Amino acid sequence: MKIVMVLYPGGEAGKRVPELLGCVENALGLRQFLESKGHKLVVTTDTSKEMEKQLEDADVFICQPFWPAYITRERISKAPKLKLLLTAGVGSDHYDLAAAAERNITVAEITGSNVVSVAEHVVMQVLTLVRNYMPAYQEVVAGGWDIAKVASRSHDLEDKTVGIFGMGRIGQRVATRLKPFDVKLFYYDNRRLTTAEEQVVGARYMPLETMLPICDVVSINTPLTPATDRYFNKQRLMSMKKGAWMVNTARGRIVDTDALVEVLKSGHLAGYAGDVWYPQPAPADHPWRTMPNHAMTPHVSGTSLEAQKRYADGVRDCLTKFFEGKPLEREYIIVDGGKVVSPSYSYAFEKK
Ligand code: NAI
Repeated sequence: MKIVMVLYPGGEAGKRVPELLGCVENALGLRQFLESKGHKLVVTTDTSKEMEKQLEDADVFICQPFWPAYITRERISKAPKLKLLLTAGVGSDHYDLAAAAERNITVAEITGSNVVSVAEHVVMQVLTLVRNYMPAYQEVVAGGWDIAKVASRSHDLEDKTVGIFGMGRIGQRVATRLKPFDVKLFYYDNRRLTTAEEQVVGARYMPLETMLPICDVVSINTPLTPATDRYFNKQRLMSMKKGAWMVNTARGRIVDTDALVEVLKSGHLAGYAGDVWYPQPAPADHPWRTMPNHAMTPHVSGTSLEAQKRYADGVRDCLTKFFEGKPLEREYIIVDGGKVVSPSYSYAFEKK
């Protein structure tokens, strides 16, 4: 079989750090495994012409959300042999799921592989915004000591109201990690937790339109689907409490690019952070790079070295089962048998 991987360039780090499995040089640590079984492996960093050419006769395609290859309906239509689209990580919106379902292509991701990694990043960025860390750091680097400038926008997280949009694996881990900061926690999800689960995570359910105006901090943790695409438009962002902070490690397109810049410039939101952009890689002139009061990183939260090991192992497991004609891990499957079957995605596709 022909397996195509699109991975990010590793450069010097790729050669020095064998644990950097997700870069093109290290091929998820799967080169020997695949070639010893007689499969043809093509690994490239290219996400346009070269990738399209390789896709034409590929059986399996693999990429990571951090360096996504956008596999559109048109690209799928030009890949007649394609049977499996794998995401090395979590979040498969870079694949046209409806088009994959129509062609009976299986789509799977490594569910759970990096949820702790992301939750830790969320906690870091919530504190970064609320404590006003970025200007404090910049003050040090610039040789200054302007306490007033930094302290005038610096707060305690304690007693703040935090709302989580999307209370799945990551949302729940964000909640349990924020609980010890003595915050008031609410969440909205289209699948409500049981009372016992709510007690474990320490968060109460609240309709979104009630939650947004009362939250000091909002964390976005849903997948990107037709239902969440640009869900945070100008109106919804303006419905948030004045002076609130937002952290989005879910997907860039859940927030309207220009509307966010406007509400930050107007001062309605006090700050925004996250690691997800649209498109990715973000162009050098992406407006979020230069908008006020942000603490963005590139898309790295779910790709710590520990996470890379977990999702590379998951990809190996999927490929082993696929080659043996066995069903993939149930939890990993997003599209199968001509349908979007993952409960986190199917809601949006059934509604359409
Ligand atoms: P999950 O499937 O465990 O949880 C997602 C939750 O969102 C579910 O509870 C689902 O019911 C809810 N949801 C879906 N659509 C909704 C809607 N329209 N309204 C309200 N709730 C909705 O997924 P998990 O593991 O928590 O990951 C969530 C997302 O985070 C992924 O889909 C991915 O896009 C992103 N992610 C980002 C990473 C990063 O490196 N920045 C790494 C891993 C995931």
